[in-house]
Amino acid sequence: SQTEKELLYKIHEIANDFFQDQMFETEEGKTIAYSYFKERELRDDIIRKFQLGFAPEQKDAFTEFALDKGYSKDILEKSGLSIFPENAPRGIDRFRERVIFPIHSFSGRVLGFGARILRNNVKTAKYLNSPETEIYHKSQVLYGLNQGKQAISKNNLCLLVEGYMDVIALHQSGIENVVSSSGTALTVEQIKLIKRLTENVTILFDGDAPGIKASFRSIDMLLSESMNIRILLFPDGDDPDSFSRKHPQEYVENFIKNEAKDFIDFKAEILLKDAGSDPIRKAEAIRDIVKSVAFVQNALKQEVYLKEVSNKFGLSEQSLFNELNVQKQLQK
Ligand code: UTP
Ligand code: MN
Ligand code: MN
Ligand code: MN
Ligand code: MN
Repeated sequence: SQTEKELLYKIHEIANDFFQDQMFETEEGKTIAYSYFKERELRDDIIRKFQLGFAPEQKDAFTEFALDKGYSKDILEKSGLSIFPENAPRGIDRFRERVIFPIHSFSGRVLGFGARILRNNVKTAKYLNSPETEIYHKSQVLYGLNQGKQAISKNNLCLLVEGYMDVIALHQSGIENVVSSSGTALTVEQIKLIKRLTENVTILFDGDAPGIKASFRSIDMLLSESMNIRILLFPDGDDPDSFSRKHPQEYVENFIKNEAKDFIDFKAEILLKDAGSDPIRKAEAIRDIVKSVAFVQNALKQEVYLKEVSNKFGLSEQSLFNELNVQKQLQK
């Protein structure tokens, strides 16, 4: 209901203040969380801009704080911020001993949180995120959109990265036209949010196997929504965060500008790398590329792309056109 939603917004605002206070005003927060962000070379203005915070070790720190303020167990549970297991009926915090990344709506309201463990280990998920609630629908939110919307409009370009830290690190490098779908596969709703600001997207995913897989999927999604796309993978397994800390801002900007490829060159490079001279593998690669061309919505653009494939591989346009029509039928 409307009043319940308002309460959920309010409790997220309170939690957001709480997590920031925990980081800046407590010894635990200063020594564990603030120093963590300093190790990752974040400046104070950036930490403040993204309202980063800390959920302490005490298992009910926020729950107790909110109950004291008069929030009910019911609303705490619905917010996803507290959980009420049978062995702890008074409630415990969902986020404990983690650094906190608030997730904002387009207009800047806090809808939920991402939370990262302080030391990587194999047993615990690196990031824990808010569950779906009445105000947080992860398929409809892009991390960084609130902080980046003006730069996206101004540059008429949206950079799409994988993670929270990638968005934040690029801002620190002065590159602000960036969003992240934060670990979830890109959705049509998220693309529509970008489309309000620009039709141009450059995908900057991690240079590892999951990053390549996600970029292939995102290419088809974005083409289906009539977006213009370019793609860049960072070398040596870097992600935008690690890369932008190794190089000066101008170098990063030029790298993105010069190294981003159109989807045909990008897919060709990756698919042909392991195809070698094997004709069957090569044919499979070409079919995979034509499959993406089939997602292009505009007939004229589609033909231009098909010509590019034809030139690139020295194949007749007719045979590619036949394959295109097969792929289009399969998509229906
Ligand atoms: P990555 O594994 O690339 O992590 O996940 P990262 O952002 O580079 O993490 P750092 O640099 O080690 O801090 C990309 C994004 O996927 C989501 C997060 O949004 C993360 O930023 N993710 C990742 C999760 O939601 N849960 C996970 O366990 C891991
Ligand atoms: Mn809703
Ligand atoms: Mn990754
Ligand atoms: Mn990464
Ligand atoms: Mn990273």
